[in-house]
Amino acid sequence: MRKIGAAGMLALLLAGAALAAPAKQAEVHWPAVRSAVPRDPKIEARIDSILRRMSIEEKVGQIVQADIAFVTPEDVRKYKLGSILAGGNSAPHGDNKAPAADWLKQADDFWNASQAADWKGEKIPLIYGIDAVHGHANIVGATIFPQNIGLGATRDPELIRRIGEVTAKEMVATGFDWDFSPTLAVVRDDRWGRIYEGFSENPSIVRSYAGKMVEGLQGVPGTKNFLGAGHVIATAKHFVGDGGTAGGKDQGDNQSSAAQLRDIHGAGYPPAIAAGVQSVMASFSSVRGEKVHGDKALLTGALKQDMRFDGLIVGDWNAHGQVNGCSNTSCPQSINAGLDMFMAPDSWKGLYENTLKQVQSGEIPMSRLDDAVRRILRVKLRAHMFDKGAPSARPYAGKFELLGSPEHRAVAREAVRKSLVLLKNARQLLPLSPKMNVLVAGDGADNIAKQSGGWTISWQGTGLTNADFPHAQSIWGGINEAVNAAGGKATLSADGSYSAKPDVAIVVFGEDPYAEFVGDRPRSLEFSPADKKDLELLRKLKAAGIPVVSIFLSGRPMWVNPELNASDAFVAAFLPGSEGGGISDVLFRKPDGSIHYDFHGKLSYSWPKRADQTPLNVGDKGYDPLFAFGYGLKNGQKGDLPQLSQERPKGGGLPEGVLFGRGAVPQGWSMAFEPAIGGQIKGVDRRAQEDSRQITWNGSGPATVAIRANPPLDLSRETTGQLSLVVDYRVDSPPTAPVTIAMASTRVPIGGVLRAAPVGQWQTLTVPLGCFATSGDEMKALTTPLAITTAGQLKLTISDVRVLSATVPQDQCGAP
Ligand code: BGC
Ligand code: BGC
Repeated sequence: MRKIGAAGMLALLLAGAALAAPAKQAEVHWPAVRSAVPRDPKIEARIDSILRRMSIEEKVGQIVQADIAFVTPEDVRKYKLGSILAGGNSAPHGDNKAPAADWLKQADDFWNASQAADWKGEKIPLIYGIDAVHGHANIVGATIFPQNIGLGATRDPELIRRIGEVTAKEMVATGFDWDFSPTLAVVRDDRWGRIYEGFSENPSIVRSYAGKMVEGLQGVPGTKNFLGAGHVIATAKHFVGDGGTAGGKDQGDNQSSAAQLRDIHGAGYPPAIAAGVQSVMASFSSVRGEKVHGDKALLTGALKQDMRFDGLIVGDWNAHGQVNGCSNTSCPQSINAGLDMFMAPDSWKGLYENTLKQVQSGEIPMSRLDDAVRRILRVKLRAHMFDKGAPSARPYAGKFELLGSPEHRAVAREAVRKSLVLLKNARQLLPLSPKMNVLVAGDGADNIAKQSGGWTISWQGTGLTNADFPHAQSIWGGINEAVNAAGGKATLSADGSYSAKPDVAIVVFGEDPYAEFVGDRPRSLEFSPADKKDLELLRKLKAAGIPVVSIFLSGRPMWVNPELNASDAFVAAFLPGSEGGGISDVLFRKPDGSIHYDFHGKLSYSWPKRADQTPLNVGDKGYDPLFAFGYGLKNGQKGDLPQLSQERPKGGGLPEGVLFGRGAVPQGWSMAFEPAIGGQIKGVDRRAQEDSRQITWNGSGPATVAIRANPPLDLSRETTGQLSLVVDYRVDSPPTAPVTIAMASTRVPIGGVLRAAPVGQWQTLTVPLGCFATSGDEMKALTTPLAITTAGQLKLTISDVRVLSATVPQDQCGAP
């Protein structure tokens, strides 16, 4: 437990007393921080002079950031936008796998557009940002570091600094100025889909890493290196409380007291600001019911006044639209609360126009706009943006050999080695001799996407094959290399089948990639509750008398008691990234029998004993984890575990995102014909008894089968996040008239698809949510999240209806 001193006590008392009052700023004070980057009078004078010559339009343009999927260089020229970003799914000509040269070319095109604008005064270059959150992993061929959860386990702040340096260089090679990293979330609930982006549940680790990552990315203040060649602007995010929302809900509500918010969730900000971080991203989440994007006490009070942050506060992806009274295209509240730049990916134009009007009417004071622009210019000047020239003209630009270079990959491999946490080692099975006959099994063994997790090439890290990772090694690849070099024999067999009985089996399995809210697991921490194939594989191998080593890939601690019981050794590898070889480095001895690298990693998150054991954090009252914060065996330590309880959690219900599954709609919802005389619905079997519905339209007139949601369903976030509606269906007799499917006002024709589908065979229909609405707002309160309509006859069976991240061509909005 953290000791609370007298000042802390007072703060807590004040917090309690002030709960009802909106003035959070008065509740506690945040530390006064001295940034290592002093105010430079020359820069300030230059800002004064630029500001004096700017028109209102030019000023408003500076505070708007658009996403490259929704903005053109011509738009940038015309609106003089201050910044652009490449979101997780955004890429040159819409191709996530575009070559590095295309990224650089695109950066040039946008930069040139900012310089071609007819500025009244000085030409202001734009800055280009991206989420290089575990290396520059959006770009094919880049070095991919372990996700932050793994870095937390290394307990090595100096390594974090080197990772920042490598990441920055690879970014500059492809034309970027600005990284939306590091994430300083102190994650207190393992159900959160972004847990792996956080270094730890413990503020002390986040505190010790924050400044180091900033220094690695930006360079060391006071040296000529600072924001110089090969460096980028860093972002401390998401201010504040992102890792502490109730139930671990993404973008949810943090109910901590003001003092807890500062001392736990805010722990990383003072060191990041001290190290000179130039931008801070506001959080999507709320604090005690109020969205941070509209919270003046936090943005202006805590960050700018108390902590004396003089860089820029950027918003998150349309997060301003969630502030009370705001929409994606209008939110004076955010700017007035202290936000300096809107992240308005697709909404930038409407937002620009409305913001301009709000400045003209005085709703946004000119002084506030000037301050926002001043901060943006300050950051641009400190980053030498006015002198750097086009992205391709800068040092390291176009040096694509830096992407995944041997030196960079060596840093990543070191990080992998240091991040592995050994949880079980019965009879000291590890380290293994490399001279054995080794079976390598599991669907994660030769799967670089799975070992990398979300924010890898695509937003969700899905839709990828090993061919998309030219400078990377799978875990199998590393094992094969080590074993071959020592004269042993390794065999890859994903399903674990073998002809000659192996000496040992290494099984690599775990979570499939996810990002943000898609990864929320509100119901339980049980690993793979619906599919026990990995467990069966472990048990089969063990039953055959083969020693089993489990390598568990996951973005979070999970309830894996049955898997632990079925393994002789168990390694939590988290999401190691491109360097699978870092795992074999530690698993195997050298050919001469000596130790190569010992296990080093220590849990940065507590590991649960029960699937419902969350929140679970070191220092809690009655703290009773399976493996405590800081746990991690070394070679030579006794690593046997007793048989663990395998009792599964009670309850269940449908997983998040399912509209119809296992024969049911979510509790309180319904599925029915409207009007009732339009046809019938009957339960039929697909994989289980009555897990599907056969729907017969009798052709008596327009009739709809509707799923009704109660309370209404909010899919706005999923829509802007480019998720899809996915329906498993079987045409039993083809339609005789047009058929549509709808969620909101727009009906998507699917008659053509149904007519083309082979009768009697299960198919999958995938429709991007964006096809159902012209804006995310329209998907905010869906009362009928599914409506299938036809006036003709049709016999259609459906089994699973869900919303998920499935890759489909953008133009696929059905065919009549
Ligand atoms: C995430 C941020 C990210 C931004 C841009 C948001 O949805 O919350 O962490 O920087 O998108 O991709
Ligand atoms: C973007 C991400 C963003 C997410 C938010 C995705 O389409 O690519 O960068 O964080 O949407 O919804």
